[in-house]
Amino acid sequence: MTSISIIGSGKMGAAIAEVATRAGAAVQIIKRSPTSMSAARDGFAYGVMGDELTGDLVVLAVPYNAYEGILQHYRDQLSRKVVIDISNPIDFSTYDRLKSPADSSTAAELAKMLPEGSAVVKAFNVNLGDTLTSGTNGTTPTTVLFAGDYAEAKIAVAQLIEGAGMRAVDAGPLTRARELEAMGFLQIIMAALGKTRYESGFTLLP
Ligand SMILES: NC(=O)c1ccc[n+]([C@@H]2O[C@H](COP(=O)([O-])OP(=O)(O)OC[C@H]3O[C@@H](n4cnc5c(N)ncnc54)[C@H](OP(=O)(O)O)[C@@H]3O)[C@@H](O)[C@H]2O)c1
Repeated sequence: MTSISIIGSGKMGAAIAEVATRAGAAVQIIKRSPTSMSAARDGFAYGVMGDELTGDLVVLAVPYNAYEGILQHYRDQLSRKVVIDISNPIDFSTYDRLKSPADSSTAAELAKMLPEGSAVVKAFNVNLGDTLTSGTNGTTPTTVLFAGDYAEAKIAVAQLIEGAGMRAVDAGPLTRARELEAMGFLQIIMAALGKTRYESGFTLLP
């Protein structure tokens, strides 16, 4: 199986580390600083921002507004990687809008910031962390929607998802990231309003 570097050691970083472990991938977690919270776990390699990325897949498990700073450390290294964008750039001051440009997505904006050769895949943003950690959503395996423009990169992401016992569904080219972000936004605000639970979320029946 593949190897994965997860930049960010918060809720989603931990959830995707769990997914990668189930899939048999080697896991590296890059923390913002030595004092950043992160549950230590045997078998994971830990680093701090600026340390070399060892994974073939790289997950940005940080808020979208952190991307620019992260690229100052990693832009060149990401030219040889599959870069997974999981962000839902919700304006938490109003819970009423996404901060990504109206005709674009964080994934498309990220792709513009990266060098040629980086393959951006939007994935995991329509999953609440608990359903990734457990691998189930209600009574069904968790569905993970993803989108991107590079076939090999999408195969690698699908293998990670399926290797972790979940269902991978290709939503199309990277332009679909905009719709995935709208879904992620809706899912999170509904959970925040108490209309759904953080332990569940949208599912796609086979
Ligand atoms: N929570 C969910 O269920 C969910 C679902 C789908 C998608 N997402 C997306 O997943 C991403 C991470 O969310 P989360 O829930 O895991 O958040 P979180 O628990 O708050 O963790 C955020 C992580 O990002 C780091 N970070 C914050 N600002 C940073 C900066 N300026 N530079 C470098 N690192 C920074 C934090 O480091 P420190 O610990 O040092 O602050 C922490 O490791 C977001 O883009 C979010 O939209 C979340």
